[in-house]
Amino acid sequence: MGSGRTVAVFGAYGHTGRFVVAELLERGFVPVLSGRDADKLRALAASHDGLDVRPASVDDPAALDRALAGAAAVVNCAGPFAVTGAPVIEAALRAGIPYVDVAAEIEANADTFARFRDRARAAGTVIVPAMAFYGGLGDLLATTAMGDWTTADEVHVAYGLSSWHPTAGTLAAGRVSRERRGGRHVRHTGGRLEYHDDALSVVEWPFPAPLGTRPVIGEFTMADVVTVPSHLAVPEVRTYMAVDAAQDLTAPDPSAPTAVDGRGRSAQTFLVDVVVRSGGAERRAVAAGQDIYAVTAPLAVEALHRILTGRTRTTGVASAGEMFDAPDFLRALSAHLSLDVRH
Ligand SMILES: NC(=O)c1ccc[n+]([C@@H]2O[C@H](COP(=O)([O-])OP(=O)(O)OC[C@H]3O[C@@H](n4cnc5c(N)ncnc54)[C@H](OP(=O)(O)O)[C@@H]3O)[C@@H](O)[C@H]2O)c1
Repeated sequence: MGSGRTVAVFGAYGHTGRFVVAELLERGFVPVLSGRDADKLRALAASHDGLDVRPASVDDPAALDRALAGAAAVVNCAGPFAVTGAPVIEAALRAGIPYVDVAAEIEANADTFARFRDRARAAGTVIVPAMAFYGGLGDLLATTAMGDWTTADEVHVAYGLSSWHPTAGTLAAGRVSRERRGGRHVRHTGGRLEYHDDALSVVEWPFPAPLGTRPVIGEFTMADVVTVPSHLAVPEVRTYMAVDAAQDLTAPDPSAPTAVDGRGRSAQTFLVDVVVRSGGAERRAVAAGQDIYAVTAPLAVEALHRILTGRTRTTGVASAGEMFDAPDFLRALSAHLSLDVRH
């Protein structure tokens, strides 16, 4: 196994990081376990014989450089990304290696594009933020649904989650994002992010079978409002969340996901329904699967695999839909996602 298969995982012992480490191993990569807590890293390494442990905190550039030394790429699974994103990207740029993260934070993802676009392109390197369930999958589906359309009037991404059971990392990311917004809401309209104080309405969304029509919170804005318009000419991008799942986030004592199968997945199911409209025409791409945290691992690792085998379409900072052949990428995940595309 050459060094071209070595991938540093920052935040390796988090809930999502563990899925990513397992997926890397399953696909023949050699993960280097990194993160801020040496004990938690060693405990994780104990269950994966022979893996390198390299503790690093984001305020220690030399430790980050040691964590990335000899790696072919780095995947950042430690959030809030408002805190971890820029330092790990800086380290990736110093090392001259590609960077992928799983950030679901709208402002942190927008920052990655704004702060690193020029430097990453000048360096000829690849940075893919939000390479995950939120932000990445919706963008791959929207790009697939667009097909040969080069522009559209609207993209709608509806999340039909059976439940959420957020991790501590999700809740922390939500808190940081809310603070950054001063408690305001955000949406993407007229080709830009707009902050507002309007009440969020509940609407009925006609999910395909087996879910059927369900109440969703309209303008429950997710990272797709950064990734989709970063490369598709669409002025209106809206995301919707099943009411039941959204309530899990605000529950007084939210419970984390519990494993129900050998892969560590929870019983949570999801359906992501993406509708693209142009003039009077409509196109749709739908993905279904199990456990939004678990499925983030094959999404991120497929991205790493394509980056390390040269199957990319650009350099610099780009979302999944721009960086990769979106329909081909989704087809490659058929073991994890069922896909239905209607043109
Ligand atoms: N876009 C998506 O669909 C998607 C999917 C999955 C996850 N995520 C995001 O990924 C992040 C992690 O989620 P998770 O489910 O894995 O949560 P988690 O189990 O709570 O893990 C969070 C991880 O981040 C680390 N971390 C937090 N702050 C850090 C800092 N300042 N420096 C270094 N490490 C830090 C934690 O380390 P300690 O234990 O030492 O605090 C832990 O390893 C969250 O931001 C979540 O929103 C996004």
